[in-house]
Amino acid sequence: MLNSIKNCFNTEDFRKLAKRKLPFPVFHYIDGAADDEVTLRRNTQAFEEVDLIPNVLKGVENIDISTELMGKRISTPLFFSPTALQRLFHHQGEIAVGKAAQNFNTFFGISSLATASIEEIGEKFSSPKIFQMYIHKDKGLNDSMIEKCKINNFDALAITLDTIVGGNRERDLRTGFTSPPKLDFNSFLSYAFHPEWTLNYLFRKKFELPQLQDFVSEGTNINISVGDYFSTMLDQSITWKDIEEIKNQWGGHLCLKGIMSVEDAKKCIDVGATAIMISNHGGRQLDGSRAPFDQLAEIVDAVGDKIDVICDGGIRRGSHVLKALSLGAKACSGGRYYLYALAAGGYEGTLRAFQLIQEEIIRDMKLMGCNSLKDLNKDNLRFR
Ligand code: LAC
Repeated sequence: MLNSIKNCFNTEDFRKLAKRKLPFPVFHYIDGAADDEVTLRRNTQAFEEVDLIPNVLKGVENIDISTELMGKRISTPLFFSPTALQRLFHHQGEIAVGKAAQNFNTFFGISSLATASIEEIGEKFSSPKIFQMYIHKDKGLNDSMIEKCKINNFDALAITLDTIVGGNRERDLRTGFTSPPKLDFNSFLSYAFHPEWTLNYLFRKKFELPQLQDFVSEGTNINISVGDYFSTMLDQSITWKDIEEIKNQWGGHLCLKGIMSVEDAKKCIDVGATAIMISNHGGRQLDGSRAPFDQLAEIVDAVGDKIDVICDGGIRRGSHVLKALSLGAKACSGGRYYLYALAAGGYEGTLRAFQLIQEEIIRDMKLMGCNSLKDLNKDNLRFR
């Protein structure tokens, strides 16, 4: 019976447990994507259409899977992508994810729509951390986020560029999911049947979005869907010039998230970014967009020697990470692989999810006959 994280051995197990633990609007917010969810499915399927070719007798008793990303050495070529609203998934929220990331010495990111403040994260975590920024129409809000990140020693700023309008997330339209959640008639039974979640939501620390609430009421005091938030609050007029200005204002490592074309990857270098996340926002924005893994080779071939290329999305297994690194990605990242585990078991769940994938990476490296990540290359792979 799948009722404990100890019985979870992979992402799908955590997903099933999360589904049982969460009221349905919250579960479908994590699980769902845009339109027909073709891109969501493709993000993982893409890895499954490529095969690994192992070598043997390579002396693999001590192997090294650490890598350097945006100036930091991390233990594992995988990290926790910034994701929003984490205290809705488990009352420990971003703090649980930060602790798990710190434990493994890898990056984690908090969102502009995080339920923990930049100050709290800065104070609690010395391990590598990213702040994910949405460029809002409200310039005061943009400046405030950048200044807080500087003061609180964030290692990198990741600007998300694929949310110029909200994706068409039909599951959220059906369930009525908003931030903050509406405990309305439609979803009442689901909240009533998940008393642990509902009591945590009602009686623990008040739900808030600390980065935003001094500037905009939507999301904290006014219920709004994430799609509508993007469409109404974010600045649709931004161009590369704005990114250059933010880079100068910030001064540190800049990662641009949601890059899918070679043309844009080259522009990222021109504006001074040190990393790009090849990403389609977990299939939550443009359905029909290509999978990050499918798009990886052409981007790495064009810019891989000048910028850290991160393959973001679809990761469910250690072997997926090996495949992306074989094509030249510096590291991989993802949201759902740890969010299901966060929902299923807070800090312990998140820790276990990462540990399982880390063990898979080590096991698969040995089975591949690789001593370090540098041993992975295109010759390891065959496209069917
Ligand atoms: C999403 C944002 C908030 O729901 O990252 O896709």
